Amino acid sequence: MASSKNLLKDVPKPLFQSFMFGIATCFTSCLLLALFSFIIFLGRNPQSLMLSPRVLTDAAGSPPFIPSNTCENGKNATKDLNSSPTFLPSATSLNTHCTTAPNNHSGVIQDPNLLKNKNWSIGSWVEGGHGDLASCDLFDGRWVADDLSPSYPPATCPFVDNAFDCFGNGRADLNYMKLRWQPKGCRIPRLEGKRMLELLRGKRLVFAGDSLNRNMWESLLCILRNSLRSKQRVFEIAGRTEFRTNNSFAVRFIDYNCSVEFFRSPFLVQPWARVDANGQRRETLRLDLIEESSSKFQNADVIVFNSGHWWTHEKTSRGKNYYEEDGHVYPQLSAAEAYRKAMRTWARWVDTHIDSKQTRVFFRGYSSSHFSGGQWSSGGTCNGETLPIANDKHGAKYPALMQILESVIEEMRTPVLYLNITRMTDYRKDAHPSVYRQPMAQRKTGALQDCSHWCLPGVPDAWNELLYAMLLRGS
Ligand SMILES: *[C@@H]1O[C@H](CO)[C@@H](O)[C@H](O)[C@H]1NC(C)=O
Ligand SMILES: *[C@@H]1O[C@H](CO)[C@@H](O)[C@H](O)[C@H]1NC(C)=O
Ligand SMILES: *[C@@H]1O[C@H](CO)[C@@H](O)[C@H](O)[C@H]1NC(C)=O
Ligand SMILES: *[C@@H]1O[C@H](CO)[C@@H](O)[C@H](O)[C@H]1NC(C)=O
Ligand SMILES: *[C@@H]1O[C@H](CO)[C@@H](O)[C@H](O)[C@H]1NC(C)=O
Ligand SMILES: *[C@@H]1O[C@H](CO)[C@@H](O)[C@H](O)[C@H]1NC(C)=O
Repeated sequence: MASSKNLLKDVPKPLFQSFMFGIATCFTSCLLLALFSFIIFLGRNPQSLMLSPRVLTDAAGSPPFIPSNTCENGKNATKDLNSSPTFLPSATSLNTHCTTAPNNHSGVIQDPNLLKNKNWSIGSWVEGGHGDLASCDLFDGRWVADDLSPSYPPATCPFVDNAFDCFGNGRADLNYMKLRWQPKGCRIPRLEGKRMLELLRGKRLVFAGDSLNRNMWESLLCILRNSLRSKQRVFEIAGRTEFRTNNSFAVRFIDYNCSVEFFRSPFLVQPWARVDANGQRRETLRLDLIEESSSKFQNADVIVFNSGHWWTHEKTSRGKNYYEEDGHVYPQLSAAEAYRKAMRTWARWVDTHIDSKQTRVFFRGYSSSHFSGGQWSSGGTCNGETLPIANDKHGAKYPALMQILESVIEEMRTPVLYLNITRMTDYRKDAHPSVYRQPMAQRKTGALQDCSHWCLPGVPDAWNELLYAMLLRGS
């Protein structure tokens, strides 16, 4: 008895401590291992257990823990247990991101304050969000942190233009793709790609407008495509993969016999050229003539129009010898007046050429830009912005162009569903491509930043959720 006591006594203290430490460590690792296996099991069998991330979130008040992934090529994926990678990339997307992005690109919310700030937490709006979808103002709301966003893994969708592929171009902070739009008065249905495709079966959905509508078109293509198992059964009909050069594109979803198309038409009215008295060729804009391409989509089932940013560019805002109407070139016309005339031309065309029993017409409102320290053409920037504007009182003035648009729409016979996204985009100074419109290798110091389009995944995904909600409720 004494000897066994002595035996322990005789063991040198450091050795004893490390022995106990060893046991403790072993115990902890076994526990962790068991926990990991369980969590991985959960991840693999989401249906069988019905333990949705949202339940975990609400219960714990913090984002759910989803196990980190290890890349197949041996590079590290995230190991940070306190942060939450909120999408589980498929094997292929995992590979893409492992090979093209550095370690800290792996879906981590890098600013923990985003989720700590109650104003962005999911819980804070749950009570306010139980109203009736049918009567709710979809555009009065907040951006909230969302563990189910984005709706497609970044840098995996072939329809995302390089210029919008911020993640692929090396943007490391990822908060901007983990926010969902939450109207004050109701919950909007989650855009499930397959359900929307079911809605679109045998139909044509067309976006007509400027590159911000292309931004939205690409977003919708990615959301829909990501819901499908056989992704090769979705393709651009002419096999094109570069979406900046041509004036129209159509992507077909074979299994749903439907197409989702884009027509470039930044003014909706027709750019023109005339020869002046001195024999010089002059560019004008025909305020009295709808853009030529519109006849190609007037019988589509859903059309989403937009026009806005091009009316703020130099030629349009200067308005000198540029606007033409009924054979007359205005020596000087304000952009606002020209916009009113153009939108009236558009409205007349819609009222006479579109059968509102067959075609649902949307107009997407003005999307906010966030250039600071200059304009888009004079070195304005928005890089380094990683959080939305949280101040509820903040708000740029509602653009005069959109007030004009509203007054034109009011006078139309055709019901036009207005996607009033100006305010919701105004909060999102964090979500523009900025310098990530190009990969690092092509970036030149002092190159223009993009603070008007949006990274994808990102803000236009939310516009499509609202589009879907409005299609469902019919108003
Ligand atoms: C993975 O991360 C660990 C530390 O977090 C680091 O020591 C190791 O070198 C990394 N491995 C690779 C392949 O990057
Ligand atoms: C993570 O990204 C930031 C910003 O791009 C960079 O400065 C930092 O070195 C990166 N860290 C690692 C571990 O790659
Ligand atoms: C959150 O919002 C409330 C009301 O809108 C405001 O009073 C408060 O200052 C905000 N908190 C933060 C941290 O922004
Ligand atoms: C596909 O949709 C078109 C209408 O867009 C319809 O005319 C055609 O019959 C449909 N084809 C099939 C195979 O369902
Ligand atoms: C697309 O644009 C390119 C370059 O402008 C042109 O060469 C090509 O013919 C166009 N393709 C189609 C199908 O219109
Ligand atoms: C659109 O939203 C703005 C706020 O940004 C609001 O002033 C305007 O009245 C709204 N328009 C419609 C038609 O609801």
